[in-house]
Amino acid sequence: MDRKIVIAGNWKMNKSNSDALQLANQIKIKTTGINHTAVIMCPPFTALSVVNEVVKNTSIDLGGQNVFWEKEGAYTGEISAEMLKSAGASYVIIGHSERRQYFGETDETVNKRLLTALDSGLKAIVCVGETLEQRENNETMNVVSRQVKGALGGLTDAQMQDVIVAYEPVWAIGTGKTATPEQAQEVHAAIRNLIADIFNTEMSKKLVLQYGGSVKPENAEELLGQDDIDGALVGGACLKADSFAEIIRIAERLNRA
Ligand code: PGA
Repeated sequence: MDRKIVIAGNWKMNKSNSDALQLANQIKIKTTGINHTAVIMCPPFTALSVVNEVVKNTSIDLGGQNVFWEKEGAYTGEISAEMLKSAGASYVIIGHSERRQYFGETDETVNKRLLTALDSGLKAIVCVGETLEQRENNETMNVVSRQVKGALGGLTDAQMQDVIVAYEPVWAIGTGKTATPEQAQEVHAAIRNLIADIFNTEMSKKLVLQYGGSVKPENAEELLGQDDIDGALVGGACLKADSFAEIIRIAERLNRA
């Protein structure tokens, strides 16, 4: 595989600033010497600056968990792309299923956020994935392709270079149920074909496609060993330095293989 494995940690709404500082420091120490695997930490907005102090002279990148599409103004509670950048972020997660489920995110708003983020020079991790009901109704591919097309509408080839797509089946997030490597690989391959259709084959080959949903040290190797799985978006297991660092070490071994 010529794509570098990218492991991102989505901290969600966890960690006060003192806990964030501790976790980031531990992860930094435990991943010393990792240089074939890209690592991204996505703490809550409030901890971005604190974590940035820890990672700023390392190869670990920092990401936000959402971004608003307007540049500035009277939008109480929202965070702009420039604000994320000024706190040290170079990435942002967009369209996470929890945003879609609980906060009214739609394919259209995902697209608006993505265009703004990329215009501002941020890179993005765009999340897609079906619910259990959709999978049981054999709608997985329809749903995922609608989400991918919706999210990426209007992107130029140059912008697409800064996008990672994360396939996260909703039924596997935080549930301990992981998609089997075959189930994940099947959807990843379909997404890569779709990117070839929307953009071109070269772009589809370069695209980093992460899997997310109960990734942990015990299943990381099998998942990351699949042809079209180029990384992981890790929730629960990134909140402990040991398990996150272990996933990164597994990726590093596979990168070198
Ligand atoms: P999980 O979360 O690893 O806790 O399932 C993944 C995610 O939501 O990105």
